[in-house]
Amino acid sequence: MSIFDKFQQLAATRQELEKSCDAFFNIVMQDIISGTEAIVNGRPTILAGSNNYLGLSFDSDCIDAACGAVRKEGTGTTGSRMANGTFSGHVALEQELAEFFNRQGAIVFSTGYVANLAMLSTLVGPGEIILLDGDCHASIYDGCRMGSAEVHRFRHNDAQDLEKRLRRLEKRNTNILVVVEGLYSMLGDRAPLADIVSVKNKYGAYLLVDEAHSLGVLGANGRGLAEESDVEDGVDFVVGTFSKSLGAIGGFCVSNHPELDLVRYASRPYVFTASSSPSVIASTRMALKILQKRPELRHRLWDNANMLYNKLQDLGFSMGPEPSPIVAVRLEDKAEAFELWNGLLEQGVYVNLMLPPATPDGSCLLRSSVSAGHTLEQMERICEAFTAVRQLTAAA
Ligand SMILES: Cc1ncc(COP(=O)(O)O)c(C=O)c1O
Repeated sequence: MSIFDKFQQLAATRQELEKSCDAFFNIVMQDIISGTEAIVNGRPTILAGSNNYLGLSFDSDCIDAACGAVRKEGTGTTGSRMANGTFSGHVALEQELAEFFNRQGAIVFSTGYVANLAMLSTLVGPGEIILLDGDCHASIYDGCRMGSAEVHRFRHNDAQDLEKRLRRLEKRNTNILVVVEGLYSMLGDRAPLADIVSVKNKYGAYLLVDEAHSLGVLGANGRGLAEESDVEDGVDFVVGTFSKSLGAIGGFCVSNHPELDLVRYASRPYVFTASSSPSVIASTRMALKILQKRPELRHRLWDNANMLYNKLQDLGFSMGPEPSPIVAVRLEDKAEAFELWNGLLEQGVYVNLMLPPATPDGSCLLRSSVSAGHTLEQMERICEAFTAVRQLTAAA
């Protein structure tokens, strides 16, 4: 018996899928031309699945900041925040995040995934309860698994179901942490945050919102869904990432609870991994400034989002429930999903192909994410590519 025997089913599935679309398994961005374009399979390709919402990964000020930091402080911190890995940039970024979110404290983590691992495995302990939206991201589930709290799920975006469960759990007389996302990463739908806040207040629970996809995207100042829904005071912990609208890599949590700082000492994903390198921290700090100084980026992002959503709806695709920078087409059939995804790639447009079980309702998704960096011409080319593949399937 081999240690790899358990992967046989996976290997068979991969082999089967490769027959329909080997490009899917071999996607390499051979040359990155800009935040919205790369050479893929030797062909210039528009990137419409990058989560680079504000297009800042190629912003010249962010690049200059990263280059300056790498020259001044080196390529890496070579240590954990608790050892030699806290540089002045980490502390400055924490202060800037706290100020931006109007919160007392902030912690910076090495990735958004690590931020969720750290917060969920540490905040809630034995005898306490996490109640999470069923469609939450894998990093939230993994954080729950790493900790020792009891975990319950409520139906996606259903505040009534949340209330029913809170009512049942009330007699347990223990701390409950409710966990939701701002914009959900697969279908781009918003959480009904005002209803969730009012329910969690009624039952005296805590609330953590992962604004990974809504930072820089929602709210008058880009602070996310809590700002847009005018319920920031009702959110105990905001988690997020630097890998989307801030164009880098890293994660954070902000809160008004002064005890947030203690999480640093109790959290293995904070203590036992190297901290973000100086270049990453420097470009993230610059991107956070730009996010605040240039609201026009957010407006351009939403123009692009509405343009693509409306176009795909007009073409008759089955869409996610509301327009957002995540524009998802639902398809029942895997073969059709591969055909359309490959067709788009041949037209020079890259989108994400998401397959069950990674998708919320078992359907296959062609998930696009638009950027403020997409020009009108690029948006038109994305729309034309979808029109062309739609005709292909209509003909078949
Ligand atoms: C909702 C959500 N939370 C957390 C993460 C993890 O962020 P990162 O890629 O920075 O680790 C993601 C990544 O896609 C996400 O969608």
